[in-house]
Amino acid sequence: MSEEKIEGIDYFVDLQPETDDFLSTVLDGLSQSQKTIPPKFFYDAIGSKIFDKICEAPEYYVTRTEIALMKEIGEEINSLVEPKSIVVEYGCGSSLKIRALLSALPDPAEYLAIDISKSHLILTIKEIAADYPNLRVGAICADFSDALDWPEQARSEHDQRLAFFPGSTIGNQTPKEALEFLTRMRHMVGDQGSLLIGVDLKKNTEVLNSAYNDAAGYTAEFNLNLLQRMKKELDAELDISNFEHDAFYNEELGRIEMHLISQLDQTIQVGGQNFEFKKGETIHTENSYKYSIEEFSELAQKSGFAPVKAWTDADNLFSIHYMSAV
Ligand code: AVI
Repeated sequence: MSEEKIEGIDYFVDLQPETDDFLSTVLDGLSQSQKTIPPKFFYDAIGSKIFDKICEAPEYYVTRTEIALMKEIGEEINSLVEPKSIVVEYGCGSSLKIRALLSALPDPAEYLAIDISKSHLILTIKEIAADYPNLRVGAICADFSDALDWPEQARSEHDQRLAFFPGSTIGNQTPKEALEFLTRMRHMVGDQGSLLIGVDLKKNTEVLNSAYNDAAGYTAEFNLNLLQRMKKELDAELDISNFEHDAFYNEELGRIEMHLISQLDQTIQVGGQNFEFKKGETIHTENSYKYSIEEFSELAQKSGFAPVKAWTDADNLFSIHYMSAV
């Protein structure tokens, strides 16, 4: 752990998180009977840019619906959160969302950002510090899915800590992982704390399927970029055109599944190892769980948060939950 001085920032704690090794994760994932590569590897510089395009695709309602809903419920959030709160953001994503929250809150005292990418973190906190001069701004460079303690540099006494986890990123974890993660957030915010979390709703299968199969092909590009990364970074021997993007709603499990489907019987080579594919065999690359309001409230309650209020947009596409520690 090291503490660094960054101009204009109140504190910056670097826990020097280990980034998972792409090669060993791929070798391990392709050796499973259901071949798999975890979704965290989508987000290299190119993948992050493609993700931004997905967020603007007409079929991908998630981002714009959440931002519009955040703005709509600003006054209610204002009345629920105490003045001088400390907002802890897990993974600094779209600055539009944190700005919508900070602008809604009654005189927030501090913004604490947690992210695994140091460069992304520094960029975000510098922007927020410049635009909100009355706010203390601090950061922890860490893998937010690890157990974290409240940093001693942060304000602590009597201030309400509000964990903020937008984007339905919780949906990319299994319900079991989500519960463990919620429990760690509950520990971080303490007994007076609360949580504001964006969760994508269960809905009509067609709407879900088209959100993950946009006509412009951004989601396909995002998924196939994993193969590009394998070629570029791991010298993998494979032909990208022998795979296709596949995304579908698995109703039984309540999740979108993304896969890369092999178009023929083939062998690819990574790190000197051969991996055989039958035609139609897939690499499972992502799950995106969808929850009803009740399902998510029930899950969160097991982690020590009690539902206070949940909002949805007029079309019932997306939900935002406000919960308080019990
Ligand atoms: C980041 N996450 C919430 C997105 C989702 O909807 O599960 C990732 C994504 N994958 C394909 N499209 C968007």
